[in-house]
Amino acid sequence: MTVHMNGQPIYDIIFTQSFDALPEEMERLNIKNRRIMVVSDMNVGTIYTQGIVDLLRDYCKEIQSFIFKAGEKNKNLDVVRSLYEALIVNEFDRGDMLVALGGGVVGDLTGFAAATYLRGIDFVQIPTSLLAQADSSIGGKTGVDFSSYKNMVGAFHMPKLVYINVSTLNSLPDREFVSGMGEIIKYGMIRDADYFRWLMQHTRDIKAKDTETLLEMLRVSCNIKREIVEKDPKEQGDRALLNLGHTIGHAIEKTLNFELLHGECVAMGLIFSSKLSEQKGLISYEDYEEICDLITAFEFPDFPEDLNIKKVIKATKNDKKRASGQIKFIVLKKIGEACIDMSVTDEDMENAINAVYEEIE
Ligand SMILES: NC(=O)c1ccc[n+]([C@@H]2O[C@H](COP(=O)([O-])OP(=O)(O)OC[C@H]3O[C@@H](n4cnc5c(N)ncnc54)[C@H](O)[C@@H]3O)[C@@H](O)[C@H]2O)c1
Repeated sequence: MTVHMNGQPIYDIIFTQSFDALPEEMERLNIKNRRIMVVSDMNVGTIYTQGIVDLLRDYCKEIQSFIFKAGEKNKNLDVVRSLYEALIVNEFDRGDMLVALGGGVVGDLTGFAAATYLRGIDFVQIPTSLLAQADSSIGGKTGVDFSSYKNMVGAFHMPKLVYINVSTLNSLPDREFVSGMGEIIKYGMIRDADYFRWLMQHTRDIKAKDTETLLEMLRVSCNIKREIVEKDPKEQGDRALLNLGHTIGHAIEKTLNFELLHGECVAMGLIFSSKLSEQKGLISYEDYEEICDLITAFEFPDFPEDLNIKKVIKATKNDKKRASGQIKFIVLKKIGEACIDMSVTDEDMENAINAVYEEIE
């Protein structure tokens, strides 16, 4: 699959079940005379980095690795600084390249370092979490968190290649896998009712990590993201639809001090946004129920019992998805179609969250 920008091909997304084709794909990027820094976190690094280094060693000028502690709390400028230092000490120049090997944290941080080191060098994404394969590795959004503000510092910087090897999902912890399904279900909700129903029909195969099913699921998900980012690369219009469930999801993530995973909070956000859409008379109760059923089928964690709803609403105020003080809330018109709604109030959000909580009690 090729991602275009202004009609020009920019990078390919490869869908496969091994790393066998990686040298060939990298050769296309003329790596022969280039240094490569493989950036990874400790969890992924321990399993895959050496293999990737060995695989690419004979194809490039030099290859090294930079591994940092896993987790969102390390997606920050301190780690970027250490990475810059490693690049400087090893004399990386403009022609050299970074490879992000890991989940969304590694991808976002490496992409940001690539966007800023020497005013921008090339980078490749090798996403290894479901969330990164379906979502974060595509579209060129890079960045790090600043204090408690998520993704507050960043840049748009396109990768040169996205290499998706679904077999890496076998080592991904189950909870992380389920979390990634939050973003995938979102794609069906905003763009493709048939895909939404396909997900319903294939729940069992997806949970069993059947290779062909995962490849198909990722092809459709990435294609939806590709179409959206090609039309609106810098989020001035339709790209905002990808934020369905994220205004409330991010607010919950922050309120709970990042104890729940991103995709888990997005899944809750999807349910609350669907309820809000139903309360506004946009979708039917049956549609809302269908959405809840699909999310439930993937066994996301239960809603937190002691969620401080007022605090969640307050936390939506820091959301970057606001335009001049007004929240750009994404609502559903039907399963498969979403739109931006600038009229959603704090009360609307609070009513929706309360209504969902009353239903589950
Ligand atoms: N740039 C974007 O467009 C975009 C979109 C969505 C999310 N994000 C960002 O992505 C991040 C979340 O990504 P994530 O869920 O991948 O988190 P993550 O990168 O922290 O990965 C989750 C956990 O799984 C481990 N892991 C990853 N792949 C593994 C594998 N194959 N085997 C074993 N362990 C593995 C990681 O070490 C980590 O502990 C957030 O920072 C979010 O802001 C970015």
